[in-house]
Order: sequence, then structure tokens, then C-alpha cells
Amino acid sequence: MEKSATTYMGLKLKNPIIVGSCPLTSTLDGLKRCEDAGAGAVVVKSIFEEQIDSQSAQMIKQSREFIAHADGADFIEESSRNFYIDNYLSLIEKATAEIDIPVIASVNCRSLGGWIDYVDRFSAIGADGVEINQYILPSNMKVPSSEIESEYIEVVSSLREKTSLPISLKIGPHFSSLAYMIKKFDEMNINGYVLFNRFYQPDIDIKKMELKPKVNFSNEQDYGQALQWTALLSAYLNGDICASNGVHNGEALIKLLLSGAKAVQVVTAVIKQGLPVIGQMQKTLDDWMDKNNYSSLVDFRGTLAHKRLDEPAVWERSQYMKSLNVEF
Ligand SMILES: Cc1cc2nc3c(=O)[nH]c(=O)nc-3n(C[C@H](O)[C@H](O)[C@H](O)COP(=O)(O)O)c2cc1C
Repeated sequence: MEKSATTYMGLKLKNPIIVGSCPLTSTLDGLKRCEDAGAGAVVVKSIFEEQIDSQSAQMIKQSREFIAHADGADFIEESSRNFYIDNYLSLIEKATAEIDIPVIASVNCRSLGGWIDYVDRFSAIGADGVEINQYILPSNMKVPSSEIESEYIEVVSSLREKTSLPISLKIGPHFSSLAYMIKKFDEMNINGYVLFNRFYQPDIDIKKMELKPKVNFSNEQDYGQALQWTALLSAYLNGDICASNGVHNGEALIKLLLSGAKAVQVVTAVIKQGLPVIGQMQKTLDDWMDKNNYSSLVDFRGTLAHKRLDEPAVWERSQYMKSLNVEF
């Protein structure tokens, strides 16, 4: 067994570097390239709730005048839904047949909908797990946080009932009580938590004075939030934490393992630096382990987590005061 082998959501990974859901993981060729570059696992580009549910509704609306019978509407709805689902299932089926590392399917959803009936089909075609990116932007002033939290819980508990596949939740940090919410998910036997999702932030074109789309890449310092929350939560959960968001190099990987992460996800790093960054991260980890005489990740993983420290408050407030007193 390789010395940086790990387990994540019940899956055996040869190393903790997972390529996260992104355009690179949307094709069989891209997925194979991730494996060739040394990734421990891959998360396939998400299928969106809208592709499963709303696209069909939209298609029906557009072709309403041609549909004479309710049967016709049903047929079109089913065909459109099947188009996206079939393509997605076919990609996963080929990927699991042709590559050896774990292949995790991914669904981007907002609320409970027809999409949930399709999740178990991932297991039938060999997916090793499913990652759910529940993306709720809490922008409606009439909706209290309790209602949004209930929506999360409803989706997660329905999912757990629908499939025995390992499930990971990719969530953002913006809960009033993140620790409480994760504990609730953990009580529902969720297998992994991807901390954190990056919410889409549009930009403005000041010449045209209109909104323009922006690719939402992370920066090298962005891993800090995942580092803190991994340290705060990792030792108190049954599910595994996969740190994500701003993991650009081997040093960040080591820090996240020390705080208790079982794995990390990389996207911006592989898009901007290219796939060889995976090998560089692996080498930094291997060299650091050799230097410290560690023969497996278990030897050091989580040693700086909140629960394992004599003074756990360093992860909360005490360092904050020190950081504000730095002299420049
Ligand atoms: C171009 C692009 C496309 C992405 N597509 C998806 C997606 O389909 N589903 C998803 O869950 N995350 C998606 N993400 C988010 C990434 O999986 C990842 O969570 C995020 O980029 C933070 O990780 P990083 O700092 O390594 O980039 C995308 C990110 C980028 C940059």
C-alpha cells in the first residue's frame, strides 16, 4: 500500500488528492488524464437539477403549440430528461469501466425534486459515490434561516433513504451554526463533507454597464477557511472531511491533513497550473513525511485538530487577538 493512502467516504484512495468537479472532469478523456496525472479520485462535472427537472418543463413550454395530447407532453418531458441523464450515466459507466481510481458522481441541486429519483442509478452503473452540491443562495428576505436549514435537512434525509451509495455533501460556510448543521447531517449517516463550496459571484462590465459572467477561480490563500473548519469539526464527526477551496500546493495539503482532512479537492490548481501540479503536491507530501519519519497518513493526520490540542481555543479566538497586534 502506498504510504499516502487514505480512505474517504468509505472509499480507498491511493492518495488524498481528488480532482473536484469541473470542466476537466466532464469528459472521459479528462477523467483519464486526471488518473494518469496521479489523482487519488475524481468527481465528475455535476449534472444540474435544472437539466433533470426544469429543462424538460421549458421544452414543453416551447413546443406547447405542437403538443396536441397530454401523452405528447409526457413523452417530450421524459425524452428531454432522459437525454441529460443518459449522457451523464453513460459517461460514468465508461469512466468506472476504464479507470481504476474511484469515480464520484455529482449533482448540483437547490431543493427536493424529481432529480432525487435518479441518484440510485449512479450505483447501478458503478459510481463509487455521489457528491451533492446543494446550492441555495439565501437572498430572499422573506425566508428565515430556519426554513433554509429545513430545506437542506429534507434533501439530505430523502437522499439517504433513496440510496446506499456513499454520499458526500459539498456545502458553503454560510450557516448561522455550521457545526450544528453538519452534526445533523452526520446523524443521518452522511459519509463525507466537502468544505467548502464556492458560490458563484457575477461581475459588472463598467463599459457596457451590465453584468458579465466570471469564472470563479480561487486564490492561494483561500484554503484558510477550510483549514479552520476542518480543525474545528474533523474529530467530532463520523463522516470524513474533504477540504476544498484554495488548495493550490503541497504545503496547503499537509496543513489540511494535520487539521484532520481525509482528502482534499483541487480544481483551480489543475486548471491554472496544469495536471502536473498533482505530482508536485504528492512529492511535497512524500518528502515532508520522509523528513518527519511518518510512514502513513494516520501517523500525523488530525494531530492539530481542535479536539487533540491542549489549548483548542487557538482555532477560535485567541489567535485572532494576536493577529491584530502584529507590528508593521
Ligand atoms: C470552471 C469551473 C467549473 C466548476 N463546475 C462545478 C460543478 O459543475 N459542480 C461543482 O460542484 N463544482 C464546480 N466547480 C467548483 C469546484 O469543484 C471547486 O469546488 C471550486 O473551484 C473550489 O476549489 P478550487 O479552489 O480548487 O478551485 C467549478 C469550478 C470551476 C472553476
